[in-house]
Amino acid sequence: MTANTAVTVRVPAKVNLQLAVGPAREDGYHDLVNVFHAVSLFDEVTVSEARSRAGRGFVRLSVAGDLGSHTERVPLDDTNLAARAARLVAREATGAGPVDIHLNKRIPVAGGMAGGSADAAAALVACDRLWHTGLSADRLLELAAELGSDVPFPLVGATAVGTGRGEVLSPVPSPGRYEWVFALAEGGLSTAAVFAEYDRLRPDAPEPRGDERLMAALAAGDARRLGAALSNDLQGAALSLRPDLADTLATGRAAGAVGAIVSGSGPTCAFLAEDEGGAAAVAAALEKSGVCERAVRAQGDVEGATVIRRPGL
Ligand code: C5P
Repeated sequence: MTANTAVTVRVPAKVNLQLAVGPAREDGYHDLVNVFHAVSLFDEVTVSEARSRAGRGFVRLSVAGDLGSHTERVPLDDTNLAARAARLVAREATGAGPVDIHLNKRIPVAGGMAGGSADAAAALVACDRLWHTGLSADRLLELAAELGSDVPFPLVGATAVGTGRGEVLSPVPSPGRYEWVFALAEGGLSTAAVFAEYDRLRPDAPEPRGDERLMAALAAGDARRLGAALSNDLQGAALSLRPDLADTLATGRAAGAVGAIVSGSGPTCAFLAEDEGGAAAVAAALEKSGVCERAVRAQGDVEGATVIRRPGL
């Protein structure tokens, strides 16, 4: 790889501050009110022009990552969302050639923090830059929504509410800075399986509604109020598939977390602390108790996908 043919994009994980889930739609998806919050747990995605084209496909993927990010679960074939993202941008570019995509992961894989979606969002931005496609922010958001419900959000980052199947975004003013602890679990959970379990447990789910208490807490930048307002309709389904997560949530709460919730479809559990000292105490208690594989700290909110290395730098 040479510096003038590669683009690296840094992209954040998300936690859901509210995830309200409606009944299953005809197309199998669910209408959501999904309050996304970007946290400082970042993947880095590097897209580089392939040196040799002989005997290879359009995209070649490689992955490396932190202990606990479980890179062995990342598919390295054309089903990977980052590979699909590159193909979508190539359709709009002139003269796009084969690329290598390297995923450097800190976001847990299949952990309910939208790591795969984040990598896809980063690949869209990197390919657009590499091939000088000049796609507008709106066009990138459209391509992201084609790839998956959670892919648009990491493009914008910060805090935003997603409606529809989660892909229609509106920013939410959030002046506060929050201290989070994430308990990474052994094993992953399939998003589709958790939604199916939700349908089984809640056959008569009402239409999803926003939560004014949560919006007021965010506007005030008040961690205690925010912690009390966190909610996730998928939590019951995730706990039904992974009953052990109840111990993880209880451990973080007992250590002083002001909010404790399963992140998205799980199995990662998210804890909001009142301040840095509180976060250190929650992380230490989780690590010591053995209820999770690893505890990692992060702050929110943070910006969305950002180019950190590009041709000429
Ligand atoms: O959109 P995405 O492909 O990321 O969704 C993965 C799976 O999660 C879907 O196949 C569906 O089972 C479930 N899902 C859902 N309703 C949503 C978003 C996702 O049922 N709004």
